[in-house]
Amino acid sequence: MSTDLHPSTLSDGWVRSRDRVGAYFRAGAERWTHLTSDAPVSRIRATVREGRRQMRETLVSWLPDDVSGLRILDAGCGPGVLSWELAARGARVVGVDLAPELIEAARTRGPEGVPMPDFRAGDLMEAASEGFDFIVAMDCFIHYGLRETLDAVRGMESFSSHGILLTVAPWTPLLGAMHLAGKLFPRRDRAPSIIPVTDHALRRELEGPFGPTDLTLHRSHTVHRGFYISRALELVPRGRPT
Ligand SMILES: C[S@@+](CC[C@H](N)C(=O)[O-])C[C@H]1O[C@@H](n2cnc3c(N)ncnc32)[C@H](O)[C@@H]1O
Repeated sequence: MSTDLHPSTLSDGWVRSRDRVGAYFRAGAERWTHLTSDAPVSRIRATVREGRRQMRETLVSWLPDDVSGLRILDAGCGPGVLSWELAARGARVVGVDLAPELIEAARTRGPEGVPMPDFRAGDLMEAASEGFDFIVAMDCFIHYGLRETLDAVRGMESFSSHGILLTVAPWTPLLGAMHLAGKLFPRRDRAPSIIPVTDHALRRELEGPFGPTDLTLHRSHTVHRGFYISRALELVPRGRPT
């Protein structure tokens, strides 16, 4: 697999995974739009919604208190909840997602008086190459393998002057078993499986030859709420005073 994911050289593995993930989210756009709205949901989904709210809060708390004027890429923005939140705080936000249906939903969402983020349908790798202060990717890379995620981080790191915030799916016995079952019994129409990552593999790979060269892990935080579990990672430029 290529370790250089500059937009001009997207690896075959990345393109395959991206197309699989994109097809899934296009088909499930209505469900995602519903989950991320205020409309009533089942108790199980309510736990997911609450977990996702806490995750957004975590990611936002890792950005500077004053984000006004900062250029932020919301990579894999879905229906744009985080994009709008950051725009409301004065950031100049680009929200990019593979599913045009979700981008359409994102455009109709904003609170009055907040300038609309620049929402675009497309691949986050291409959008990233414009250069940003921060790149934030909430629950986007959970559908990619660790090496593909690190390839993407390496491809984007020189385009983010202050760092990259992303989430991964931490390994749990349940997620591990579901992932294994998905591999044993592949079904074409299933959700793109969440690919869990063990803490050990994450730390080893981040600092290994496939990890980012300019960025290093500054902190991580796991949000676990009912059926939602996700780990936020903050990657900052090496040598940045902490
Ligand atoms: C689980 S959803 C999360 C959406 C949003 N970040 C949120 O937290 O509400 C993952 C999103 O990432 C998008 N995505 C995955 N890979 C992408 C890529 N390579 N470029 C742009 N969007 C991508 C999917 O289309 C999907 O909408």
